[in-house]
Amino acid sequence: MCGIVGYAGRRPSAAAAGELKSHAHGALDVVMEGLRRLEYRGYDSAGVAVLTEAGIDSRKKSGKLANLTAELAAAPLPEATTGIGHTRWATHGGPTDENAHPHLADGGRLALIHNGIIENFAELKAELLAAGAEFISETDTEVAAALLASVYRGEGGGDLALSMQLACRRLEGAFTLLAIHADSPDVVVAARRNSPLVVGLGDGENFLGSDVSGFIDFTRRAVELGQDQIVTITPESVEITDFYGNPASGTEFEVNWDAAAAEKGGYPSFMEKEINDQPQAVGDTLLGRSDLEGRLTLDELRVDPEDLKAVNKIMVLACGTSAYAGQVAKYAIEHWCRIPVEVELSHEFRYRDPIVDGNTLIVAISQSGETMDTLMAVRYAKEQGAKVLAICNTNGSTIPRESDAVLYTHAGPEIAVASTKAFLAQITAAYLLGLYLAQLRGDKFQGEIKDMLTDLAKVPAKIQQVLDNSGQIKELAGLMADAKSVLFLGRHVGFPVAMEGALKLKELAYIHAEGFAAGELKHGPIALIEEGQPVFVVVPSPRGRDSLHAKVVSNIQEIRARGAKTIVIAEEGDDAVKAYAEHVFYVPETPTLLAPLLTTVPLQIFACALATAKGYDVDQPRNLAKSVTVE
Ligand code: F6R
Repeated sequence: MCGIVGYAGRRPSAAAAGELKSHAHGALDVVMEGLRRLEYRGYDSAGVAVLTEAGIDSRKKSGKLANLTAELAAAPLPEATTGIGHTRWATHGGPTDENAHPHLADGGRLALIHNGIIENFAELKAELLAAGAEFISETDTEVAAALLASVYRGEGGGDLALSMQLACRRLEGAFTLLAIHADSPDVVVAARRNSPLVVGLGDGENFLGSDVSGFIDFTRRAVELGQDQIVTITPESVEITDFYGNPASGTEFEVNWDAAAAEKGGYPSFMEKEINDQPQAVGDTLLGRSDLEGRLTLDELRVDPEDLKAVNKIMVLACGTSAYAGQVAKYAIEHWCRIPVEVELSHEFRYRDPIVDGNTLIVAISQSGETMDTLMAVRYAKEQGAKVLAICNTNGSTIPRESDAVLYTHAGPEIAVASTKAFLAQITAAYLLGLYLAQLRGDKFQGEIKDMLTDLAKVPAKIQQVLDNSGQIKELAGLMADAKSVLFLGRHVGFPVAMEGALKLKELAYIHAEGFAAGELKHGPIALIEEGQPVFVVVPSPRGRDSLHAKVVSNIQEIRARGAKTIVIAEEGDDAVKAYAEHVFYVPETPTLLAPLLTTVPLQIFACALATAKGYDVDQPRNLAKSVTVE
């Protein structure tokens, strides 16, 4: 939530750059480029501030980044070498120009941007008001700016880094703060607690970003920061301390994807690109994780195999789409390893006295690695003695750093706010984990594991087949643009797929949609069926458990008899469903447990095409943000 960028460097100004005009020059260009890449984190307003010899100058505007760009064209900012920028997802105060960041204080000599929520802002505001401070916005950020300014003029003694330390000690909640001051040219000071911040290391320039996309155009060398740290960047230096000024350090890492991976690659939207990236996302997640004999080698797991053998319960913690990946994982891991698996929404887990101990393995699934609800659940589980393994797509993010082990998905950057390729990569990683546990504990014969890996290796080409045959589903989506409500049914692993299909439609097309377990129909949801009600049904393979297929087919008959318009996702060769479906979309044959990697894809394509037909922005749906860094 909220994208943050900071820059201190000596890039030549636009005028001095001459021929290099196409490349970013000056702080403003660098910051705006970073904001463009971070806009997926929040897009209800945006703002920048630059530091020049004359002091601080800033612009901010409600709405998407394009509005700020227009504002900058109408009222340009001066050339500068130091700057900060912000794209907002509103928490305190609506998305107005006044509430947009940066917030100024100290008579306009200090500018501050913030991601997170300051929980004790009301108390601090009352104190600052009593001391004569004035506020023009409704935000907690302006309170933090005023606090920093008052400390700067008081015990901070005009030292921005020291003032930041002192101010942070008074703040409660989650925050990443970046500040510049007119008295400290070439300096950006930042702080982080429970909110993301990464440093980018350049040559004669340094960067700050909510994640590496904020500076990926300029450097691939990055530093992960720890909890409760302050970092001061200048063009030549990066200095890290804790909130008490004690020297601290971060962990340097190399970003393993490049700027091109975060571009649309010829597709009209990131969402379409990412849906089409899925064969590669799954393939890359499988890459290098087994040897020629079919033995899984998850070297990066870094957790004692004896601890894994002792596990007697697995709890998957995640939110949204990642939680649906967890539900798929439950079916597979329980089947392969005979270990009970519970799946719980991270935000529910913490508040119900969950029973976890040293033999519980927590699997935290998060694309961003920053979801606050999941991070808090991870911390709670660790306090109870559980081992935590993260399945994550983002290097350098907080959840893997705080977990005992990590299994990275290699989906590449996911920019569209609604998750697609990360979902398939998470499911793939969860399969690898399940098979690895089965191998380690001897729950399956090595040959069985090898066979399953062979089946998994065939999946990317099968996803490609689904993508290549997507014309028909896109056409249907265009015809259904006026639908008011769409239902999704599935059984077994098809149940989480149905819920994911419904979530995609809600998020992208703003249509009421619900996913149900097909068996639950008669216990209530069937009352929703009326003449013409569109219902997607995810049908299990007829080659799997017979009863499963037959049961879903009778569910289709039940809703058809009540007027539903049925749209069926079935396995190639399943002719039995044709008689009961208005439309059938076939996916290639694959073992039942692996089917979600295929059956999800038509539902993603449908939601994306329908939203596009309605003229909506599929990359940045209303009210959402990519990385939910507040609880
Ligand atoms: C839906 C979606 C969200 C995320 C959820 C968890 O399309 O993207 O539901 O899956 O916010 O995010 P991560 O995986 O980053 O923890």
